[in-house]
Amino acid sequence: MNKLSRGTSNITSIITNVGMHFLPNVVTAIISIIIVSSINLPIGIASISMFVPFFMIRRLYFKELEKVEKKSQKTWDKEYSHFWEVLTNIRLVKAFTAEKMELNKFYKTVKKLIGLRTNMEKIHNKSNAADMLIEVWTTAIVAYSFYLGLTGHFTIGTVILMVQYIQMIREPLWNLSWVFWEMKFAKIGVKDYLKILDQKIDIKNIDLPITPDKIKGKVSFDKVWFKYPDKSGQKVFENISFNVPSGQTLALVGKSGVGKTTVAHLMVRFFDPDQGHIKIDGLDLRDMPLKFLRQNIGLVSQDSYLFDAS
Ligand SMILES: Nc1ncnc2c1ncn2[C@@H]1O[C@H](COP(=O)(O)OP(=O)(O)O)[C@@H](O)[C@H]1O
Ligand SMILES: [Mg+2]
Repeated sequence: MNKLSRGTSNITSIITNVGMHFLPNVVTAIISIIIVSSINLPIGIASISMFVPFFMIRRLYFKELEKVEKKSQKTWDKEYSHFWEVLTNIRLVKAFTAEKMELNKFYKTVKKLIGLRTNMEKIHNKSNAADMLIEVWTTAIVAYSFYLGLTGHFTIGTVILMVQYIQMIREPLWNLSWVFWEMKFAKIGVKDYLKILDQKIDIKNIDLPITPDKIKGKVSFDKVWFKYPDKSGQKVFENISFNVPSGQTLALVGKSGVGKTTVAHLMVRFFDPDQGHIKIDGLDLRDMPLKFLRQNIGLVSQDSYLFDAS
């Protein structure tokens, strides 16, 4: 949820940056450069040349900032899900008097995030050295324009115009460096967001599923192999087979963790078996429409959740 909401605001940020800041700044800078250059080409060239080293310095620091930002987003995402868990299970936390332990965990995370944020501010400050470069350079160009005015090469009107337009080159270009950073910054979050959106659906209908007229309810597991798809997933079933004739009741009894719940989960296709077949009335679950299958099964799960409704 955290990644999704951050991703959406990042997309908003990219759109506003491109629409409201990027284009107007580029247009202002280009027009100002043309005007200054048409009056005095060397000054025009000089006023944009300073931005080459400026952007290069900024880029260097942006790379550093990006690294820290990624780290802090990762920290936050991990802890966020933990705090969410703590809050939704607050009674359990209280029953075990684990409030202090959880608070300490929270403080630790906050401390880490503050550390990362401070680090980012430090990098920001260092990158401000690049601003100094621009200030000194602009002042020099303005001074040169005054000099040209005093020596009679420029009229007073031209000097004033030049001073104004040099500012109108400096400001949008300076803004652009921040627009670039904002976009780069937003891209980190958008990447995570797209990763979620691009996740493939594992459980889906085959091209031409068969819908039986009526379900009698004969269930059979035929040489089923299964392990949960996560990295550390152990084998739950190795070649299990059984039949439950229609109208009969089957109770599965066994130690915790042997796979009783997994049988139910496989029946409603939360997962598909790695090998073998699970059939209802002789038809493999994968051959019938998913919706049809689930509409014909009543599942009462072991952890009940009450929706906030009547
Ligand atoms: N969503 C899951 N992801 C990974 N492993 C799981 C998942 N659910 C259950 N398991 C593992 O699969 C095994 C069988 O679990 P389960 O069917 O819940 O057992 P039972 O209901 O018999 O207590 C256990 O080792 C459990 O840790
Ligand atoms: Mg269970």
